[in-house]
Amino acid sequence: MKTDTIYCTDACEQLERTDPEWVDLVFADPPYNIGYVYDNYRDDLSDEKYVEWSRRWMSACARALKPNGSIYIAIGDDFAADLRIIGRDIGLHLRNWIIWHYTFGQNMKNKFCRSHTHILYFTKHPSEFTFNDRLLRFPSARHTEYQDLRANPRGRLPNDVWDEFPRVCGTFKERDGVHGCQMPEALLMRIIMASSNPKDVVLDPFVGSGTTAIAARRLGRQYVGIDISETYVELARKRLARVDHEIRNDDRTDSWPELHTEMLFQLYRETKVSLENLLPNQVALRVIAASLSERTGVTYDAAAVERRLFELSKDKRFPKLPNDTRFKPCKHVTSEGKRYTRVTHRLRARRQPKGSQNGDVRQAM
Ligand SMILES: C[S@@+](CC[C@H](N)C(=O)[O-])C[C@H]1O[C@@H](n2cnc3c(N)ncnc32)[C@H](O)[C@@H]1O
Repeated sequence: MKTDTIYCTDACEQLERTDPEWVDLVFADPPYNIGYVYDNYRDDLSDEKYVEWSRRWMSACARALKPNGSIYIAIGDDFAADLRIIGRDIGLHLRNWIIWHYTFGQNMKNKFCRSHTHILYFTKHPSEFTFNDRLLRFPSARHTEYQDLRANPRGRLPNDVWDEFPRVCGTFKERDGVHGCQMPEALLMRIIMASSNPKDVVLDPFVGSGTTAIAARRLGRQYVGIDISETYVELARKRLARVDHEIRNDDRTDSWPELHTEMLFQLYRETKVSLENLLPNQVALRVIAASLSERTGVTYDAAAVERRLFELSKDKRFPKLPNDTRFKPCKHVTSEGKRYTRVTHRLRARRQPKGSQNGDVRQAM
């Protein structure tokens, strides 16, 4: 198949008639068979039919993979176990069963709210595969809490529970309107950085709004995307054209390229330490600089990272960490439709009694 192309066709039919072993990495986010309304796919097969279909597309993708290739599959609760078993049946090796734990999950009334998706990470060969650990590292608690100089200066690897990627909700700037299942670009970047190298071929058989292709393009990989819907393919191609434009503009400026800024945002999210605690911590900043240099291929030092984080902190895109945002009173609506402003009372320390020496209010009580 021609690379750097989005095909509008059925993924199984297309992959079954293509040569084997030409892909380095597959990312697949198939329909989950939960009755979701897609443009022209009915997401309500019988359980048997869905499992049978899953076996077919997973076999077609495994056939397309090179012997040292990897495949990541995003899947919901109902069929995660089936897909894991199909993977074993067709000779894939499970490396991680990742849980993507996201914020902004769906509210439920009669069960616990859903806030995760499974990502099954398989390789075709049990021991020969690409895994770029140096691109994934970020500061550990030994850097951020203790500023421990003996901690690994390259940082630590992420856990298999990923909670640094909020779901792309309707109101997010990243959300591109038409497709309701758009994945976060940063999540795809982590997968592509981990399991492929520049110029490798990344295939997404259910490319939807084009997220995988966009992340691959930005990271200098070749992509092939397939989707059965013309509307989604059109959307993916438009998004890709915008990314091409951005890449051309980045080449022309001498300020920080947009991709490097986003990678710095992502490292900040991964570090999970508020800016006011991070900026004075040179040990953690050095790890961020080392990791950013690996991810971008451009050398950054701790001072450059510190300056850029400070500059960006005034930008409204600056990532908010959970519980790191001050509550701002705003207009709320009661169940009867009345509007009111929620008032918050700030707790103040008791005034220091006269004559108290050291200012500890407990001693004066
Ligand atoms: C969950 S969505 C993928 C969303 C995507 N990850 C994104 O970030 O936008 C699944 C996609 O599979 C597509 N699809 C369903 N059956 C297909 C088939 N047989 N071949 C190719 N694409 C198919 C649907 O049109 C839908 O866009």
